[in-house]
Amino acid sequence: MAGLRKVRAIIKWFIPDSFLYHYLAPLFKTVTRTSEKPRKQLRFQINLTDHCNLNCAGCTAFSPLAEEKYMDVDCFEHDCARLSELAGGKIELIDLLGGEPLLHPEIVRIVEIARKYFDGDINIVTNGVLLTKMSEVFWHVCHKNDIGIIISGYPIKLKMEEIQKHAESNKVKLVIRGGTNDIKIWNKVPYDLSGKQNPVKNFRICYGANMCINLENGRLATCPIPFVIKQFNKFCNHSAL
Ligand SMILES: C[S@@+](CC[C@H](N)C(=O)[O-])C[C@H]1O[C@@H](n2cnc3c(N)ncnc32)[C@H](O)[C@@H]1O
Ligand code: SF4
Repeated sequence: MAGLRKVRAIIKWFIPDSFLYHYLAPLFKTVTRTSEKPRKQLRFQINLTDHCNLNCAGCTAFSPLAEEKYMDVDCFEHDCARLSELAGGKIELIDLLGGEPLLHPEIVRIVEIARKYFDGDINIVTNGVLLTKMSEVFWHVCHKNDIGIIISGYPIKLKMEEIQKHAESNKVKLVIRGGTNDIKIWNKVPYDLSGKQNPVKNFRICYGANMCINLENGRLATCPIPFVIKQFNKFCNHSAL
């Protein structure tokens, strides 16, 4: 693992991030056509809230612009039941995110529903701020249902020792994405509001194509943008998408 990190660091030293993300990764995706190959197993992510308790510049979910809004849990159960039926109960990955997922008052019921219908990896992706305030029932349910917690490692002060203690004593998998010492890569995603872009070509070269499948109220989208753009449109009084 340490060897792999060294190789990555050397590649990064020679090849700037901008070149890697803007030229090499799209070229790789175009040549291998990974964006278009049917997935072997279902995976999806779902926003439990539109809003958030942080205000990150460049948030791809437009959460700093969003009004307070919580996912409908009955609708989630209905969708999980149907998708589970179609996928034979197997899932590659479910990421529960947002906005900030830990703001949802029914988070315990949500993780129980996800596990009731799917066998596979299920994670909560969080900024971590509320982890020290979560109930014992929350930690217990995460352990019982094998739910991983991923903290998106931001330059904010978290009570990491306390969080790690909760996770360890409850035997819950805790990952700090990017690690504590790494540099956080924050993408700047420009939007061309002229309507002149080629969506098919852009989808094919997108780093998240065929990965970030999103679920919302009975609908699946190949990308989070169709569901979150309403935040941008409302805030900016625009009609993109
Ligand atoms: C939109 S956040 C929602 C979940 C939670 N609030 C969090 O920040 O972890 C989901 C993931 O998207 C990532 N993300 C959001 N905007 C980003 C950007 N501009 N560049 C890179 N990653 C971004 C976050 O770091 C996080 O891992
Ligand atoms: S913590 Fe997550 S959802 Fe909240 S503003 Fe930052 S990236 Fe967006």
